[in-house]
Amino acid sequence: MSYGLLKGKNGIISGALDSNSIAWKVAEKCYEEGARFVLTNAPIAMRMGEINKLAAATQSIIIPADATNVEDLEKLFTQAQENLGGKLDFVLHSIGMSVNIRKNIPYTELNYDFFTKGIDVSALSFHKMLHVAHKLDAINEWGSVVALTYAAAQRTYPFYTDMADIKAMLESIARSFGYHYGKQKKIRVNTVSQSPTKTTAGTGIKGFGDFFDFAQEISPLGNASAEDCANYCVTLFSDLTRMVTMQNLFHDGGYSTTGVSSNILQKLGIEN
Ligand SMILES: NC(=O)c1ccc[n+]([C@@H]2O[C@H](COP(=O)([O-])OP(=O)(O)OC[C@H]3O[C@@H](n4cnc5c(N)ncnc54)[C@H](O)[C@@H]3O)[C@@H](O)[C@H]2O)c1
Repeated sequence: MSYGLLKGKNGIISGALDSNSIAWKVAEKCYEEGARFVLTNAPIAMRMGEINKLAAATQSIIIPADATNVEDLEKLFTQAQENLGGKLDFVLHSIGMSVNIRKNIPYTELNYDFFTKGIDVSALSFHKMLHVAHKLDAINEWGSVVALTYAAAQRTYPFYTDMADIKAMLESIARSFGYHYGKQKKIRVNTVSQSPTKTTAGTGIKGFGDFFDFAQEISPLGNASAEDCANYCVTLFSDLTRMVTMQNLFHDGGYSTTGVSSNILQKLGIEN
């Protein structure tokens, strides 16, 4: 069911790699809700070609941009406004990558070149996007910028290694930039802290499947799906959340505030 929540709104959606990507679902929901937008991803990710299907289904164009490259981002924000015929109302940052995780390197042994790369791709890229949008005055007043994050920024998940620190930085950038962007241009900046979700980035983490099941047993509502996350992002892009900014918003079925669940106790053989 569509509510027309984003009718007349223009945006940029990054990070749709294949139909499992959270950004893919966000694009589908934004389209259903009446938005027009440009899709973007790293040039290397375009090679898979899957994103063309999403572009066709949502009547959008694709502008490749490496999110670590400020020049690429300048082209992206300039060409997106040209294509959409005006300023933007929303931006989704849905970008994450850790070489240390990919290579299964334990936290105590991190490779610092990989760590630096992870920071650039997954956190600094958010600052760079905000910086370019701000410099080009590319977003309308009351516009909304959202980045996706994970609860390892607040508490320790050993398998999440350097991405925990990187997500903490990402969330901090949302608060810091959100202050300036709010004060100067009335633009809001938030992060959404999503449940474990079966995507390319998610399943690349060692033990992800077991952890997905664990989170499912802890969360009173169960894990939030990518579709649920997309719906939440739509509300954050809409005018119904105008006064929400500089927040890290948990979208996790209650996981982050549950200490222990009866399901887990039962599995441990503890009566409750
Ligand atoms: N899957 C999960 O369990 C989960 C949970 C919480 C938060 N998140 C976050 O959601 C976001 C999206 O991830 P996803 O799970 O949909 O996985 P995904 O693999 O589908 O998306 C990650 C995207 O980042 C893009 N990317 C990587 N390097 C880039 C670069 N240099 N420039 C531009 N784009 C680049 C990839 O091409 C890909 O499209 C990430 O920030 C991730 O950390 C995921």
